[in-house]
Amino acid sequence: MLFFCISLTYLFYCSAQRNDHPIIGILAQEIFDAKPNQTSYIGASHVKFLESGGARVVPVMLDQTLEEYKRVFNSINGIILPGGRSNIYSSRFQRAGQIFYELAIEAKSRGDHFPVFGTCLGIELLFVLTSPKTELSLTNTTGVILPLTFTNETKGSRMFRDFPAQVMEDLATQPLSEHSHKWGLALSTYNTNEELKKFYKVLSTNTDGKVEFVSTVEAYDYPIYATQWHAEKNAYEWRKPYISHCPSAIKVTFHMADFFVNEARKNFHRFSSEKAERRALIYNYQTVLGSKTSPFEQLYIFP
Ligand SMILES: *[C@@H]1O[C@H](CO)[C@@H](O)[C@H](O)[C@H]1NC(C)=O
Ligand SMILES: *[C@@H]1O[C@H](CO)[C@@H](O)[C@H](O)[C@H]1NC(C)=O
Ligand SMILES: *[C@@H]1O[C@H](CO)[C@@H](O)[C@H](O)[C@H]1NC(C)=O
Repeated sequence: MLFFCISLTYLFYCSAQRNDHPIIGILAQEIFDAKPNQTSYIGASHVKFLESGGARVVPVMLDQTLEEYKRVFNSINGIILPGGRSNIYSSRFQRAGQIFYELAIEAKSRGDHFPVFGTCLGIELLFVLTSPKTELSLTNTTGVILPLTFTNETKGSRMFRDFPAQVMEDLATQPLSEHSHKWGLALSTYNTNEELKKFYKVLSTNTDGKVEFVSTVEAYDYPIYATQWHAEKNAYEWRKPYISHCPSAIKVTFHMADFFVNEARKNFHRFSSEKAERRALIYNYQTVLGSKTSPFEQLYIFP
């Protein structure tokens, strides 16, 4: 009886626990017009986004061994697969993304909650990882801001259920979501792909006037979330004149960050030592200014 009580207390204590020191990975991505000694980058806006929600950031480098990625996975509390131009069927970005996706899914069966967030190219990669036969459609959406068309699933979603009503109304009625993508998952494709339908709940769609595409999803059974739009840009990127910086747009950035960092607070992975943790953090790297043609104000470039 005493043992039973202790177990119950322990269980309750554990479930009431929260990791208030979350560390989230951001997957680096290939540089295309790379100068010598430059192989990958991370837009600094993703880092600031996570920091605004109370997380610290670790860059996850390309080209690591599976063992190394497993070590990173067991040290961090979630990962962002950011936007960019890498190949989603075969690239170093795709390989790393697939490893983390599979590790996150496998972790769930052990009760290990490891959240994954795909942004823009990241959502496209997730669709292809879930269903390799996925065919994306060309969309005329390179550089537009749009209101989100929410679905019937939005209200009960994990992603949006704690958003203030005013932010939800603003997202639905004002162009606060920034899109810079040439491809998208047509809603009609989603509706005929059982693998995607079983895995993802559609929370919003958008249209370029011709193709209605899926713009926000969350997985039914896994802490996997994705947006075709860029929540991180509203508050932190100024290179494109159309990006909205109005108060509502900034709140969208913040509430998305708050949501995802809270997901990471449910994860208890940790580095093997404080020294290893310190060595991995983004603080060891310096930002550089984006070039004239870069969409980023600041970025991290890795050798
Ligand atoms: C590239 O890195 C190597 C080793 O750190 C250095 O010797 C070389 O000068 C660098 N090249 C350029 C172009 O920065
Ligand atoms: C693409 O959308 C823009 C408005 O965002 C419009 O001006 C342009 O004509 C569209 N192009 C095509 C090929 O539909
Ligand atoms: C959403 O809900 C409305 C009202 O309940 C219903 O008329 C509509 O068919 C639903 N849409 C979908 C796609 O299920």
